Amino acid sequence: MTAIRSVVLGCGSYLPQKVLTNAELAARVDTSDEWITQRTGIRQRHIAADGEFTSHLGIAAAKAALADAGIDAQSIDLIVLATSTPDNTFPATAVAVQNGLGINHGAAFDLQAVCSGFVFALATADNFLRSGAFKRALVIGAETFSRILDWNDRGTCVLFGDGAGAVVLEAQEQPGNVASDRGVLTTHLRSDGRHQSKLYVDGGPSSTQTVGHLRMEGREVFKHAVGMITDVIVDAFNATGATADAIDWFIPHQANKRIIDASAHKLHIAPQKVVLTVDRHGNTSAASIPLALCVAVRDGRVKKGDLVLFEAMGGGFTWGSALVRW
Ligand code: ACO
Repeated sequence: MTAIRSVVLGCGSYLPQKVLTNAELAARVDTSDEWITQRTGIRQRHIAADGEFTSHLGIAAAKAALADAGIDAQSIDLIVLATSTPDNTFPATAVAVQNGLGINHGAAFDLQAVCSGFVFALATADNFLRSGAFKRALVIGAETFSRILDWNDRGTCVLFGDGAGAVVLEAQEQPGNVASDRGVLTTHLRSDGRHQSKLYVDGGPSSTQTVGHLRMEGREVFKHAVGMITDVIVDAFNATGATADAIDWFIPHQANKRIIDASAHKLHIAPQKVVLTVDRHGNTSAASIPLALCVAVRDGRVKKGDLVLFEAMGGGFTWGSALVRW
């Protein structure tokens, strides 16, 4: 029996021009290139310019994705934008992106699942497309985490960066064979609010009427990360019959090289299949997966027919996985 699948037509990304190196950070807080590189794998991150908002990053990434897909913006009828750093409390940054693309039909909304945002947004758009409610979707991860960092806290300010990535999805009828169909094959989302205080922002419209700063118990996050990530990937394997050997590319959320390496090792995913950009981008939260994906598509690693595995874990905690045939 045939199946409707959300097939990826193209991807695009955008990074702000300014690069902030570990050495520059070491001149501002008590840290070193060696400490940051050894503990996280991060060497540099991009920082948005004054007046450059999350929506601007999202629009640039979306335009690049539309160009890559070779389609007109007017054919998009759904925009799901994952962010924890919206331009304003409301309206949704997604409507600013929609307007920036000259679209005024269909629906556009934000989704908030912190670093898991892209996987949650992909799953949301996939469900809408498969239900028949929409035909073509832009799924965007866009962040300006530099705006919510405490630049005096060396435990967090060295970890994050700004950027955006986007994919265009189209509902297409496929043969209905999970072993060969193109598109999103399965998604798995989880949350557990008992962990809220381990990674959060200490402000918000309802609680403090301020924006607040990111706070994190780094060791606690690290402790839970690998188990949560690998569990939800096993769910994706079980749902599809895929195995670690069948995966062509593992494109994880880029938070920390040690978490990525440990997850890949536990799952027996070969190191050469792991796409790593955390060294150049830092942790760009919801933007990190589509940013890494675009690097691997542009440099020719990800090709039509490849099986691509995404995973993410972030504040909440939230975590999730998605298996996509390119
Ligand atoms: N430079 C130098 N020293 C530092 C720095 C820094 N930037 N940051 C912390 N330290 C010091 C601490 O003060 C501490 O010093 P002390 O022993 O004198 O008290 C020492 O280094 C060890 O601190 P820990 O926090 O225990 O260091 P740890 O080895 O756990 O590494 C890190 C910290 C890198 C944050 C690690 O815990 C980690 O990667 N955690 C996961 C965090 C993460 O990835 N978060 C994002 C995932 S979720 C999401 O993406 C939103």
